[in-house]
Amino acid sequence: MAVIPVDIAGRPYEVHVGAGLLAELVPLCAGRLRKRRVPVVTDANVHARWGTVVENALHAHGHEAAWRILPPGEVSKSWEQLAATVDWLLAEEVERGDHVLALGGGVIGDLTGFAASILKRGCHFIQIPTTLLAQVDSSVGGKTAINTPAGKNLVGAFHQPSLVLADLAVLDSLPRRELLAGYAEVVKYGLLGDADFFRWCQAHGAAMLAGDARSREYAVSHSVAAKARIVKADERETLGLRALLNLGHTFGHALEAQTGFSDRLLHGEGVALGMVLAARFSARRGLIPAASAEAIASHFAEVGMASEIASLGLDCDGQALVAHMLHDKKMDAGTLPFILLKSIGEAFLAKDVDLGEVAVFLDGELAR
Ligand code: GLY
Repeated sequence: MAVIPVDIAGRPYEVHVGAGLLAELVPLCAGRLRKRRVPVVTDANVHARWGTVVENALHAHGHEAAWRILPPGEVSKSWEQLAATVDWLLAEEVERGDHVLALGGGVIGDLTGFAASILKRGCHFIQIPTTLLAQVDSSVGGKTAINTPAGKNLVGAFHQPSLVLADLAVLDSLPRRELLAGYAEVVKYGLLGDADFFRWCQAHGAAMLAGDARSREYAVSHSVAAKARIVKADERETLGLRALLNLGHTFGHALEAQTGFSDRLLHGEGVALGMVLAARFSARRGLIPAASAEAIASHFAEVGMASEIASLGLDCDGQALVAHMLHDKKMDAGTLPFILLKSIGEAFLAKDVDLGEVAVFLDGELAR
């Protein structure tokens, strides 16, 4: 098992990465579960697959689970589910010193974390991420949020978990498509700050996706360590460093919006395509060689991910995609910062990107 410290001033915590952690839940929580009943928020799919394991792990140490089981999917990141979850925590008599468990993917982590942040002005929570994407990204760093009719993640709080338990065994039961979507966020750490790690992905990514245990532990723990460094340095995304984690997200968000935030394009799939676009746009600006951008596209294609937006069959032009970007929550006083590459392994925040140029570039990509 790997243990990665997240050294945030005043609120340090650890991320444990290893196979079989769910069964060891109680000892790993190291005294944080103070009461017999332990509140666990999850969704119906995760509960069906892992509910009994968690139940048994709690029973073995004299606890019982109080379950709140939400509908799967983004639909649960709503005001309604937030209010109902907070009311449920109140009914469970959860106190500030108690820990709520968030067992699930990004949706469950975001909703539970936000509910914990406002319950009695803030109680503790423990992230138990059950998707690759949540293990390497959303469970670490304390971003919590719900969606509103105005957009995704527009209402939320920074609220750090007390502990993150990333059980690699759960990855075995993930659909391949979901695993690949999470893999995009793994590759992201290589592209934005660690060329050696991108080379590792090129060499070992396929084995990791196929289930190789050592590669999985390395990929997840290395990704978490990269995120932990960034979050430690710029927890509130005020210094331009944490923003680098949005590599590929502005282009990807436009693609997700154009496909109606539906199963047609998962978030991680949008991020992979978005990183290819960010790299090609960087090449167009003469920042990186075209061959570097194509190495990224080739890697995603080799592991079985879409790497060309033309393959999405979008019925729109570049301007329509840019129009979605104008609603991006990263808009800042009328300009939209883009994360571009100076090289594979060095991303930066570009504040001078002309959206007209982006539209022309996207027209070319849509026709590729
Ligand atoms: N997922 C981006 C961040 O945590 O900042």
